Amino acid sequence: MLTSRANGNHRIWEVRTHRAVNYDVRETSDVLDPTNPTLLVGGRGSLRRFVVVDEVVYETRKEKLKAYFEHHGVEARIMPITATEPNKSFELFFQIARELDAFKLNRRNEPIIAIGGGVLSDVVSFVASTYRRGAPCVRVPTTLMGLIDAAIGIKTAVNFDKAKNRIGTFEPPFAAVLDRSWLDTLPMRHILNGVGEIMKLALICDPPQFELLAKEGKEACEDKFVTKGTEIFRRAIDGMLQELEPNLWEENLERATDFGHTFSPMLEMKDVDNLLHGEAVAIDCAFSVVLAAERKLINAATRDRCLGVMTELGLPVWHAMATPELFWDSVEERTAHRDGYQRVPIMTGIGTHKFINDITLDELKSAFKVWGELCGGRVNGHAHAKVHKQSRAAAVAASLEEG
Ligand SMILES: NC(=O)c1ccc[n+]([C@@H]2O[C@H](COP(=O)([O-])OP(=O)(O)OC[C@H]3O[C@@H](n4cnc5c(N)ncnc54)[C@H](O)[C@@H]3O)[C@@H](O)[C@H]2O)c1
Ligand SMILES: [Zn+2]
Repeated sequence: MLTSRANGNHRIWEVRTHRAVNYDVRETSDVLDPTNPTLLVGGRGSLRRFVVVDEVVYETRKEKLKAYFEHHGVEARIMPITATEPNKSFELFFQIARELDAFKLNRRNEPIIAIGGGVLSDVVSFVASTYRRGAPCVRVPTTLMGLIDAAIGIKTAVNFDKAKNRIGTFEPPFAAVLDRSWLDTLPMRHILNGVGEIMKLALICDPPQFELLAKEGKEACEDKFVTKGTEIFRRAIDGMLQELEPNLWEENLERATDFGHTFSPMLEMKDVDNLLHGEAVAIDCAFSVVLAAERKLINAATRDRCLGVMTELGLPVWHAMATPELFWDSVEERTAHRDGYQRVPIMTGIGTHKFINDITLDELKSAFKVWGELCGGRVNGHAHAKVHKQSRAAAVAASLEEG
């Protein structure tokens, strides 16, 4: 309730209100089956939808997608877009906003549908959160990264002037609709990219998940999590939402989910044409494991087990362009992001952690030497592939081949 009070010769009006956050993260299967109504969640009877879809996904599901909306009598404006890290930008934001404006979206009653990976989800959600100051958005992630991370929280973003996710908003989706069957066309490298984030949370918060990854992770990856790896998949979502829900607006800047995200952001942007987000996270995790061992927070056997399981799964644990100075720049940048303190989550065992604020460049330099000795030879075969530069036609062909 609005109150006001005297302040000397002036007045202060105290605006105090709370905004409830309610959204569902819903698992479903075969979301494009016409008998499955989940995709049309939230429309309150409207028969129009603005649908932004990753063009690689569109090429492989064009007919199914059109048939779905036709079956439901929905007038769908389908906008396929190229959504990769180098074009996660305001240019893409404006491109979508223009189309959306031309569609004359009904502001509350026609949820924008975002079908694609984390890049698409972040950009479309950003457009939705700012278009007429907020239109509902249903996120339909089609990558493992999207399913277990990008699409289920409330962050939206574009990169800006080479800074990753520098401009964005906090805005919950209307809903996130999770269907693992999208993954059957996702290239294996992108499956592992998602596993990088799953591993991150396992290492820092979830010992049983680490054991599951060690035991069943490889098989789940081989199956692309389409039918196998259900427990790992659900545990990953559960773990992520457990971390996010009490701290959606990041009022507490000590976040376990920042594991893997302290040293890597600058490396990721430096090698943005080649390195994927989850790969950068895995590389950061591997370095962090070594750092924890150098601090005697974990013993050498635990360190080697962590690195061994990561390598066994095919996660990258080292990168040729990483230097202590680059990692230090990243720590300093993150320190500003975390309001003046490093707040770096560091393992104290498998699945346990604490936060530290006293990392120095000298410490990074000496940990780097050990990291190089342990992991320098273990460069993942993918680490230098020119993924983002391959033509879209080649990407579609590759995904079909792999599918
Ligand atoms: N908002 C958040 O909380 C959050 C969390 C984690 C990651 N992210 C962001 O997510 C992004 C990474 O997302 P990503 O890993 O999904 O990458 P991505 O969105 O670039 O997608 C990866 C590639 O897979 C293709 N693709 C997507 N679905 C496919 C399918 N089913 N079959 C075949 N090909 C398919 C895309 O065209 C793309 O080339 C980063 O920008 C990261 O910052 C955001
Ligand atoms: Zn991440």
